Amino acid sequence: MTYKELIDIAADSQWMAYAPYSGFRVGAAIECSDGTVFTGCNIENAAYACTICAEQVAVSKAVSMGRRDFIRIAIISDGDDYCMPCGSCRQVLQEFAPEIELLCANKDGKYVCYGLKDLLPAPFKKNSGSCDW
Ligand code: THU
Repeated sequence: MTYKELIDIAADSQWMAYAPYSGFRVGAAIECSDGTVFTGCNIENAAYACTICAEQVAVSKAVSMGRRDFIRIAIISDGDDYCMPCGSCRQVLQEFAPEIELLCANKDGKYVCYGLKDLLPAPFKKNSGSCDW
């Protein structure tokens, strides 16, 4: 799949966003190693802390379908700026795909590309702590 195709799928998902509080709609599309794509959008809540980010919806859909072999994720929003993943989303991606590539797009579909290692260089992970996991 091309980068543009993955961003276009994320953009389609963006229109499903439920964002009455922020007005900021986000779409995500995460690609597995065989080209399977899972989509997500942000889902807000009157109790703001219950909001779920688009990336986490996409990851949850994929993992609940038995898929964790992520290679790339596209993220797009309404903004002029490139849509960067929040810290929590970086951590969620780290759990399953430390090598994942991120395509962070703006409303015009222009994008910048990062490795998760660039955006979360010293992650907390299994065995990071002193607990005997
Ligand atoms: N949001 C995402 O969906 N992904 C991110 O990585 C950052 C923020 C959403 C959450 C909330 O609905 C809106 O953007 C404003 O923060």
